[in-house]
Parts: sequence; C-alpha cells; structure tokens
Amino acid sequence: MRKLKVAVLYDEIEDREKVEAEAEGKKFPVAYRQLEQALRERGHTVNVMPLSSDVVDLVSRISNLDCDIIFNLAETFGGVSQHEQNVAALLELLKKPFTGSGSIGLALSQDKELSKKILAFHGIRYPKYAVIDSGKVEWSDDLRFPVLVKPVSQDGSIGVDIKAVVHTIKGLMERISYIHSELHSPALIEEYIDGREIYVGVLGNEKVEALPIFEMGFSKSSEDEPKIASTEAKWEEGSEAARNTFEFFPTDIPQEVYEKIQKAAALTFRLLKLRDYGRIDMRVRQRTGGDWEYYIIEANGNPHLEMESELPKAAMKHGLDYPDLLEKIIELALDRIGSKALLQPANSD
Ligand SMILES: Nc1ncnc2c1ncn2[C@@H]1O[C@H](COP(=O)(O)OP(=O)(O)O)[C@@H](O)[C@H]1O
Ligand SMILES: [Mg+2]
Repeated sequence: MRKLKVAVLYDEIEDREKVEAEAEGKKFPVAYRQLEQALRERGHTVNVMPLSSDVVDLVSRISNLDCDIIFNLAETFGGVSQHEQNVAALLELLKKPFTGSGSIGLALSQDKELSKKILAFHGIRYPKYAVIDSGKVEWSDDLRFPVLVKPVSQDGSIGVDIKAVVHTIKGLMERISYIHSELHSPALIEEYIDGREIYVGVLGNEKVEALPIFEMGFSKSSEDEPKIASTEAKWEEGSEAARNTFEFFPTDIPQEVYEKIQKAAALTFRLLKLRDYGRIDMRVRQRTGGDWEYYIIEANGNPHLEMESELPKAAMKHGLDYPDLLEKIIELALDRIGSKALLQPANSD
C-alpha cells in the first residue's frame, strides 16, 4: 500500500474519560493512540485530531486538514452517540474522504427500531419488540416475559445493566420509566433471548465478508443472573460481571449454521447501508429439537477498534493483524471513494 497522510478523528471526550479512569487506577486504552502507532509503523503520516464541541471551529479545522483520508473513530460527538451520524454528515458536506459508514448507515443502524423494520422486510430474525415513547406505544408485538428494556438508540450498553431484564409488569413499568426519565430516550422492550452472545465482524463494500464468529461466554455467572453484555461486563474492569464473562471463538457451531450466521451478518451490514467495516451483534440458541435460531440484536456502524475489542480480534483470527486491519479499512474506503469519484465531474471537488 502506498504511504498516506491519515487524519484520525475522535471525540475529545475520550481524553477526559481516560484521565478520569486512570485517576481511579483503571486502564483506559484508547483506539486512536493504538491506531496512530500502528499506522506510523507502517510508514504512514498520522495526524490525530480530537473533535471539540465548538462546531464552528471544527468546520474550519476539518476543512483545513491536509490528508488523503480521514480515519473516523468518532462513535460519539460531545459524548452523545446519536450525533455519531452528524459527524459523518459534516465530513460528507465538507467533501472529506473518510473511512467507515456514512451518515445514512449510521442513522439506520443506530436506531434499533428502524433497523428492525428494514430487517423485517427482508425476513431476517430479530427479537419481538415494543417501543414506548413518553407513554405512547409506537409499536408492540405480542411479547412474553422475560423482556429486556433498553434505550432505542444508544451504544456501549448504556442503560443495559443487570436490572434491564425484567420478569414482571411492575419491573417493566419501572424500567420504562427509568429509560424515559434518566436516559431521555424512547424505551425499546425486547423479548429476552436466552441464548449465546455472538459478535460478527464484517469487512467490505461491493463484496462483503464476515469474519470468524466471536463469542462472549457467561458460564462463570450465577444461574439467576441474566447473561447479558451489561454496562458492568463491558466497561467496568474488575467488576463481578466483567470477571464472570470471557470471550472466545466458538468451535461447536455446526459449519452450516456458522455460515448462515455469517451470511445473515453480511446481509444485515448491507441492508443497513454500512460501509467498509462493521460488527453485527447477535444471539443464538438451540431449540429443544436441536434446530439453531439466531437473532440480530444490533448492527454497529462504527464498531470499537481498540486492539483488544471484538472486531480486531476476529480480524486477527482471520489472518489480519492490527495494522493489516487498519490498512484494509483504509483500502476499502479509498476504493469506494475512488470508484464514486469517477462518476463525478472532474472539477467537482
Ligand atoms: N433481546 C435481547 N435478548 C437478550 N439479550 C439482549 C437483548 N437485547 C440486548 N441484549 C443484551 O444487552 C447487550 C447490549 O444490548 P445492545 O442492544 O447491543 O446495546 P448497545 O448498543 O448499548 O451495545 C447485548 O450485547 C446483549 O447481551
Ligand atoms: Mg451492542
């Protein structure tokens, strides 16, 4: 690959979070530093740029960026995940080439209700659900307990703690109220899929390939605890929930089922208009008769690229080490942009 000028964009809030976490003695590895180092080692020129919440200033800083490609690591803007799509929209308006999904893909995947409607059209299975916004029922399937209550569009398991799985009407009411009043979001109520938690990384555009399936195991958790990737399990290093989970590459899923799961992930990626790289979170279970069922839980347009997270690990298993993965993402983005540019008048950019 030729040597490029890469600008790495990330939400400046990460720096604050890092300082806070480290003050509490916790580790907080940030993807942008790992990316900077890995790409520099491959001979690229890397310029790291935090996104400040002063948009006016930001517009001029981004406009003045001198780079071949922007590596967009902004999963939030000012800490708000719903603004993820607006960062991509800004880059689109400024005609800056960037890696990863565009504003449309991020908007579709971020809204878990909208995602389901698209998946429904194509017959892809997801948990039955209801959405309640300020007391108004937007949609409701005929649900059975237990259910899991979460915000309709968030990331990083925000609002998904151990109390998110409820078994009673009382529990449900309280949880909906919590989502409304504390997280200021419509509540998404889903049938709880008591199954295994898997993550499928996806790379590509015209040709989309699914990476090896990665699984989060819960077998160390106690019987009565819900087996979910809760806020604590994901982010609270040393917490009981984190200690009770572990990640691995499953080897017991029959090949035919394995491939179907990968295909469903690749199709979901396409249908939600994701680009370059993504991660589809799913649940699988085996019915009493032995049949396997899989459900899409959510699609992530800008999945975490911290070295130890699911997508880089799955890529590694697939033979792409961290710098290989980053270069692959850049190549996919440049290819995609290159072919589009050919369709535009020569003086349009
Ligand atoms: N319907 C469901 N059934 C079982 N577990 C679920 C369901 N929905 C969410 N979860 C659990 O909660 C976690 C976080 O939910 P998810 O929708 O992926 O939120 P986020 O966007 O915050 O990652 C999932 O990884 C899974 O462990
Ligand atoms: Mg998730």
